[in-house]
Amino acid sequence: MSDLLQIRDSEFRTASDFIYERFGIKLTDQKKVLLAGRLSKRLRVLGIPTLSAYLDRVNGDPTGSELAEFLNLITTNHSYFFRENDHFRFLTGTVLPGIVREARADPSRTLRIWSAGCATGEEPYSIAMTAADALGEDLGRIDAGILATDISLAALATAREGVYPEAKLRDLPRSYLQRFFVPDEPGSWAVAPEIRKLILFKKLNLMAERFPFKGAFDVVFCRNVMIYFDNESRDRLVRSLYAATRPGGYLFIGHSESLRRETCPYEYVSPATYRKGGRP
Ligand SMILES: C[S@@+](CC[C@H](N)C(=O)[O-])C[C@H]1O[C@@H](n2cnc3c(N)ncnc32)[C@H](O)[C@@H]1O
Repeated sequence: MSDLLQIRDSEFRTASDFIYERFGIKLTDQKKVLLAGRLSKRLRVLGIPTLSAYLDRVNGDPTGSELAEFLNLITTNHSYFFRENDHFRFLTGTVLPGIVREARADPSRTLRIWSAGCATGEEPYSIAMTAADALGEDLGRIDAGILATDISLAALATAREGVYPEAKLRDLPRSYLQRFFVPDEPGSWAVAPEIRKLILFKKLNLMAERFPFKGAFDVVFCRNVMIYFDNESRDRLVRSLYAATRPGGYLFIGHSESLRRETCPYEYVSPATYRKGGRP
């Protein structure tokens, strides 16, 4: 008999409704085989025979960690340093110089950036390196912080550890490797403390009713996350991101994603870059 988990149509419907309600992710019927392939191993490890029994387990886990495991199997945490580099150039060329100017005039001016769906950390560390490079000595004078959130505990654990194999750092500018990393085990490098200390990693479901933030962000990176969401969930998320963006602040999405013009509250700036109107 095949090792692949057998999923009944009714079970698949229950699972896809559940995933949609909790995460806003729409699993079409074509994803049934993919789901069976991805869940087979997990269910074997747990000694659980059917998808229904697994959903009971997910629902009955008060820590939410099996829910996060489940989501891990459905989505992908793939990421890399300086992915879609346009956004980092835009930070260096446009966003950060403006904030430095304001901070020189007003010492209470903070810099807040949110990496929403930070996966294994490459994105927030790229943001922190960009800020350290662009701000230079000003970084010491500005209250700067990067919030990095994801639903996946496994991805967050890797992100917090901040140790990457050399192969992942191949495309990093040589000077960045020397300045912002320290050698770790042979063949891997750890992010330097001065970069780490700029980032706070937290678990957060982007489909949550409300976000637990006090202030708002100058820039929100929410890239390659909405690809899993349907239009309704995407609109809802964009509204929440908008509320968390400072007037005059920016939203960066993945270059393969798009926002619907009819419902998007942000102004379009350039591909995958949007701005909230008003003055900071
Ligand atoms: C492909 S990765 C993108 C990582 C990074 N932003 C980039 O562009 O390289 C997508 C991430 O979104 C996270 N994710 C998916 N749905 C989520 C949700 N409802 N709440 C929070 N994170 C979610 C996944 O766990 C995954 O780590």
